[in-house]
Amino acid sequence: MTEPNVLAVVGSLQKGSVSRVVIGHVAEQFGAAGCKVDVLDFLKEPLALYNPDTAHELPGYAELQARVERADVICLGTPDYHGSLSGAMKNFLDHFWHEFAGKLFATIVASHEKGLTVTDQLRTIARQCYAWTLPYGVSFTEDIDVEDDKIVSDTLRKRLAMLVRDARIYGALLAQQRRADLIGREPGFLARHRR
Ligand SMILES: Cc1cc2nc3c(=O)[nH]c(=O)nc-3n(C[C@H](O)[C@H](O)[C@H](O)COP(=O)(O)O)c2cc1C
Repeated sequence: MTEPNVLAVVGSLQKGSVSRVVIGHVAEQFGAAGCKVDVLDFLKEPLALYNPDTAHELPGYAELQARVERADVICLGTPDYHGSLSGAMKNFLDHFWHEFAGKLFATIVASHEKGLTVTDQLRTIARQCYAWTLPYGVSFTEDIDVEDDKIVSDTLRKRLAMLVRDARIYGALLAQQRRADLIGREPGFLARHRR
């Protein structure tokens, strides 16, 4: 089966972000497995606060939309802010929904408290956008799992290897069915996304 296209998103604007380190690591792993990987980092590519009236007029919006459309797997890395996802990540997710339908979200949370509420909220957002999620999320803790911009925990490495493997395999299966459903005639949730 063809390897899926991956969009890996950094949800922290902090310069020394541990989410960025981990997203960088998984992007490398996806790439090594033969996936096309696109990393979206709002520190390098700022994204204006979503305004439904003007979002389509933003410079670079059509290009960003095309990058989201190209992705089969959307790997989200966010810090836990007040038991929720970061504003930067929520802002990105607010900009799109049709583009997420039928795709696979894989979620990673930097948290001091396992990030369970954040993972649940990302799953809720995925459901609202008719996206699939892996049946688990990965979370980790700064200064324990990541130090000096490096992953120092074998447990985290193993969890991330599992996430990358599952996102590749299930992402490819879902992408194949999504493409078939988008050109098919059967009923199903993707019928409304046919052009
Ligand atoms: C505004 C703010 C709110 C936070 N709220 C929480 C929280 O509710 N629970 C938690 O475990 N950590 C919380 N943190 C800590 C961050 O999740 C943690 O430092 C994370 O590793 C930062 O990731 P980053 O380096 O990728 O930005 C908060 C940090 C900030 C700045």
